[in-house]
Amino acid sequence: MFFVFDGVDGAGKSTQLNLFADWLRECGRDVVCYTDPGTTELGGQMRSLLLGDHQVPIHMRSEMLMFMTARCQLVEELIKPALANGKTVVCDRYVFSTVVYQGHAGDLDPDDVWKVNQIATAGLMPDLTFIFDLDIATAGERMGTLRDRMESRGEAYFQRVRAGFLREAERWQSGVAVIDASGDIEGIQAAIRRAAVSIFPKPTD
Ligand code: TYD
Repeated sequence: MFFVFDGVDGAGKSTQLNLFADWLRECGRDVVCYTDPGTTELGGQMRSLLLGDHQVPIHMRSEMLMFMTARCQLVEELIKPALANGKTVVCDRYVFSTVVYQGHAGDLDPDDVWKVNQIATAGLMPDLTFIFDLDIATAGERMGTLRDRMESRGEAYFQRVRAGFLREAERWQSGVAVIDASGDIEGIQAAIRRAAVSIFPKPTD
């Protein structure tokens, strides 16, 4: 199975992802966790360019294609082989992020971004994507003051990010669970597990 954790920055998705992966392991699954962009050598280099503190100009369309390049490599080098070996893949961000950050919030056409996603992933979609939702003021507090290139984009950009995720969740419905990230760690984790259990294959499958 293939799970993705996505949503606004500062919503606590990495903490929840780790708790979820531990729980899957306790349930006897062979779990691997990946980061998009990242985990592969190429993805790591793309990540430094995309998030690093530098003066290299990057056009929004270039930015979108760089995230896609990292994703393509992650799919081919790690995700597909892991799934083929019966592993459960848990990924920190995936296709929705680009549609939202570079599409809805970055002013590229979200439908165009979906088309490029289709090419980058060869159509590989997760079984379930958790979309973490949180008001931007609280998310901003959790992000703190030390911010990367993306996190420095300001409140108006992040309002568009939040709205974009909610619009895409509504558009997709199946395969997506919106998680209210305003509660405590245990409550959020319980909501994630409930959503996951609802799509697990039955023992007879
Ligand atoms: P994130 O995954 O939140 O990692 P960290 O917890 O280390 O900040 O950071 C990735 C950033 O990149 C985040 O601001 C979202 C952004 N992003 C995009 O803009 N487009 C994408 O396609 C992806 C995957 C991420």
